Amino acid sequence: MIRLIGSENAGVGLPQAMDLLRNGGSAIAAVEIAIRAVEANADDHSVGLGGYPNILGQVELDAGIMDGRDRTSGAVAALKGYLHPISLARLVMERLPHVFLVGEGAARFAREMEAEAGELLTEPAREVWARRLEQDLAPRKLKEVTDLPDLWRWVEIATDPQRTHGTVNVIARDAQGHICAGVSTSGWAWKYPGRVGDSPIAGAGFYADDRYGAAACTGTGEMAIRAATAHSVIFAMQMGATLLEAGTRAMADLNDLGGRYLAGMNFVAMDRDGNHAGFSSYENATYAHMDASMDAPELLPRTYVAIKQRWERQSSLGNRQ
Ligand code: GLY
Repeated sequence: MIRLIGSENAGVGLPQAMDLLRNGGSAIAAVEIAIRAVEANADDHSVGLGGYPNILGQVELDAGIMDGRDRTSGAVAALKGYLHPISLARLVMERLPHVFLVGEGAARFAREMEAEAGELLTEPAREVWARRLEQDLAPRKLKEVTDLPDLWRWVEIATDPQRTHGTVNVIARDAQGHICAGVSTSGWAWKYPGRVGDSPIAGAGFYADDRYGAAACTGTGEMAIRAATAHSVIFAMQMGATLLEAGTRAMADLNDLGGRYLAGMNFVAMDRDGNHAGFSSYENATYAHMDASMDAPELLPRTYVAIKQRWERQSSLGNRQ
């Protein structure tokens, strides 16, 4: 049974991906084509073109993909100037003996692959960034931000917990029963330059294994990295948990994390038979779903699992003993 699930914002890419699956396309190709549509959507400020920039006003993109047939995987992170990081993640998986390229190395690889280059910072995203920093950096001037010797302090002030989420993820199951998971993001708005979230990290932001299923996260990447959330879901199923049990446990595990920066988490998951679910620490959250009988994706409710938010800002900074 062919099927697609993903974050709510994946909906724009699912019909095209479903056409591909209906015509015998692979789960990998379906994930890539669906995510490319979101990366090209300038109105989505959490992914690709139009994504919110880092604190310096530069858009840095992360993406990752995993093939459930054999858990081969590819990822790029902190990539600047290229429109489709998910395609580069796929090329890393298929053409290199490596799994993960970052920064300049990822950009060099993109050039070699003749990937589509372009300016990612749109005027609406730049305006929101500038307004936010002018407000928080006063009396310092926005143009001085690049030279701030203590950027680490300012990044915490400028960070907006409401903008720690976003991101797109897609899980596809093709006619052969193969599963693939992919994620793409511009990351946490106003992040410190070089910050990498969970989206390009196999086991944290995404995981796919035909034997058990797949999971993919959107939310506060630092949490999913620390708890290896996507892998946790699949490992629980490997240990015999149902999809609902596995997802609920992985969310509850996040609630047990310590530290000062716990915000929200969402993930979607599918078992090897194509049964699917979404989970969220936000009430009334939904995820996108489409199967072969549908002309358009539907939004389904996610299972709500509370995570107590612990978000402390600059005033609490101090050396950790
Ligand atoms: N989950 C996306 C990020 O934290 O960058």
